[in-house]
Amino acid sequence: MPSPASTEQVAFRIARADDIPRMAELMAAAHLPPLFIEEHLDGFVAADRAGELIACGGIEMYEDCAVIRSVVVDESGRGLGLGGRLAEMLMANARAAGAADLYLFTAEALPFWQHYGFAEVTFKEWKNAPRASWQYQFLSQNRDVVPDVHTMWRKA
Ligand SMILES: CC(C)(COP(=O)(O)OP(=O)(O)OC[C@H]1O[C@@H](n2cnc3c(N)ncnc32)[C@H](O)[C@@H]1OP(=O)(O)O)[C@@H](O)C(=O)NCCC(=O)NCCS
Repeated sequence: MPSPASTEQVAFRIARADDIPRMAELMAAAHLPPLFIEEHLDGFVAADRAGELIACGGIEMYEDCAVIRSVVVDESGRGLGLGGRLAEMLMANARAAGAADLYLFTAEALPFWQHYGFAEVTFKEWKNAPRASWQYQFLSQNRDVVPDVHTMWRKA
């Protein structure tokens, strides 16, 4: 019998509209903004374990750049490789969608993203296209409100 922490029965899939409330709940619990999910639903991936959505993450495309967002694993599923699988999957999806550059924002997961080849960059180093993202718009103009945020980049 698999332990409750087993990842054997975790299934990754494209997110659906009826996943939005649970994905928003996961994001809020991890202090990530549960915003503009519906508008970017086509870039979201979800992971189910025993019928429960326990992880999700998404990409938003801006011309040939992708912003990876809202990568979160429920606390009960952390440390088992799910976040890494999500990160790899989202990077592959971004490449398939034509991304040349990948960007993201993070507060606490900087070492996690470094593990996947991302480097810290400044707001000024962002290419123009992904500056249209809602996260860039808000965070670049409210640096004092969210002082601990890091912006990260890697080649796709
Ligand atoms: C960040 C997060 C998604 C990681 O998910 P996870 O399932 O626990 O991570 P994994 O078990 O897949 O770890 C994958 C690899 O990253 C490493 N890693 C995980 N968390 C790490 C961290 N905080 N710092 C450095 N490395 C880390 C693991 O050691 C593992 O390395 P390995 O492949 O050599 O074994 C999860 O902790 C989380 O949901 N945090 C809260 C939300 C958040 O901050 N999300 C990022 C917003 S952009």
